Amino acid sequence: MDKGIKILAIESSCDETSAAVVIDGRQVLSNIISSQINIHKKFGGVVPEVASRKHIEVISIVVKQALEEAKIELKDIDAVGVTYGPGLVGALLVGLQYAKGLAYALHRPMIGVNHIEGHISANFIQYKDLEPPFVCLVVSGGHTYLVYMKDYGKFEVLGQTRDDAAGEAYDKVARAIGLGYPGGPKIDRLAREGNPEIIKFPRANFHDDSSLDFSFSGLKSSVLNYLNRKEMKKEIINRADVAASFQKAVVSFLVDNALKACSLKHVDRIAVAGGVAANTCLRETLIKRGNDNNIRVMFPDFVLCTDNAAMIGSAAYFEYIKGNTSPLSLNAVPNLKLGER
Ligand code: KG4
Ligand code: ZN
Repeated sequence: MDKGIKILAIESSCDETSAAVVIDGRQVLSNIISSQINIHKKFGGVVPEVASRKHIEVISIVVKQALEEAKIELKDIDAVGVTYGPGLVGALLVGLQYAKGLAYALHRPMIGVNHIEGHISANFIQYKDLEPPFVCLVVSGGHTYLVYMKDYGKFEVLGQTRDDAAGEAYDKVARAIGLGYPGGPKIDRLAREGNPEIIKFPRANFHDDSSLDFSFSGLKSSVLNYLNRKEMKKEIINRADVAASFQKAVVSFLVDNALKACSLKHVDRIAVAGGVAANTCLRETLIKRGNDNNIRVMFPDFVLCTDNAAMIGSAAYFEYIKGNTSPLSLNAVPNLKLGER
């Protein structure tokens, strides 16, 4: 049996039920993910009540598989890590209550983890040598942040979205052009066949060049207006060009601000986290512009970008070694902010 602190981690904040076993925050022994995407696809988005019920059905099976694949037994784990926010309250409660039951029965500590901090921690799994400080661009379905990670668990928010999150914009635009849920990967694929220079979608203007904030709802409205105008004139819509032009506008906004953040903080490395970090255009553009500016750009593997429990196990470890465990009275916090405990 491997030495080191073994954390059994659970994630159920949205539409993935996941359990993982992680050693010392960096070595993943198992990372089982049960996705509900096929169920929610029919409704064009995640239905919270359905998500909670599905989590309940599969959570025991997912945890059992995670232990089996890691070849360990419950008695071997040192602590239970679990996402307690942000996310859908009913979905969070399923994982949280399950974790409390395990921690209580096993006489092991429980560590409540902020889901967004989990996404950032995916980079510690991917890059074994990575240590704070660094800049991180967090781009998920519900959040868009540029943060300076000063130390483990210590964040300074440099910029954030003033309206929609990047992933949310992807999902809304995908729905408008008839691609369905989840829109990010579908736009990513379709955009490869389109010309990103054809349609000029505008970027939000904050009248403040130093701002590192984002805004994507105006961009989404421009896409909707463009589609409406074309439909009214009964003109053919080239969906691939719309996808490519929209994507270019999102990615250039993200990359420009990410590089500005590095220069503001005099930092020469940036990590990316969250579901949109799986985007191929964002990966290519940031890596290229990072190279041009002598900045090391880090992206976790695809499976570590979208929701998974291994990233929660990593974040839990760095709290565990500081002695930051949680009481069993911990409640789910649907709107938990980055850096809040
Ligand atoms: O981090 P995540 O799995 O869940 C949240 O915590 O929100 O992110 C899900 C988001 C969705 O909006 C999805 O459309 C987007 O990530 N996404 C992508 C890609 N893969 C997932 N967006 C753009 N390109 C992708 N390849
Ligand atoms: Zn997430």
